[in-house]
Amino acid sequence: MTVLQGDCFELLAQVPNGAVDMILTDPPYGIANDTKITRSGGRQKFGKAKAISHDFGAWDRFDGFDDFMTFTKRWVDLCVPKLRGGGYACLFL
Ligand SMILES: C[S@@+](CC[C@H](N)C(=O)[O-])C[C@H]1O[C@@H](n2cnc3c(N)ncnc32)[C@H](O)[C@@H]1O
Repeated sequence: MTVLQGDCFELLAQVPNGAVDMILTDPPYGIANDTKITRSGGRQKFGKAKAISHDFGAWDRFDGFDDFMTFTKRWVDLCVPKLRGGGYACLFL
């Protein structure tokens, strides 16, 4: 097995088409925003309730849905040809 670590748009160019048995990917969701859910409640089962943030970081920030779909289509179009015939793709979307 070979492990390549880095930007998929650069690394996938090194992978020959039809060379991959399985694609398993957990890509950006495109749902990050500034929403913060504050919870004033007291203690929960395992400690004090904390605020919940939807800011996952720069990797999940896009200029709207079209930008996110352009990004998503770009990596899907790059990686799907890498699968061998009969290979599997498991995409967490
Ligand atoms: C939903 S998270 C995956 C989290 C991962 N499953 C974990 O448990 O840590 C999406 C990941 O995609 C990475 N990512 C975003 N753009 C990328 C790219 N062009 N190439 C490689 N990874 C990228 C982000 O850095 C982020 O870690």
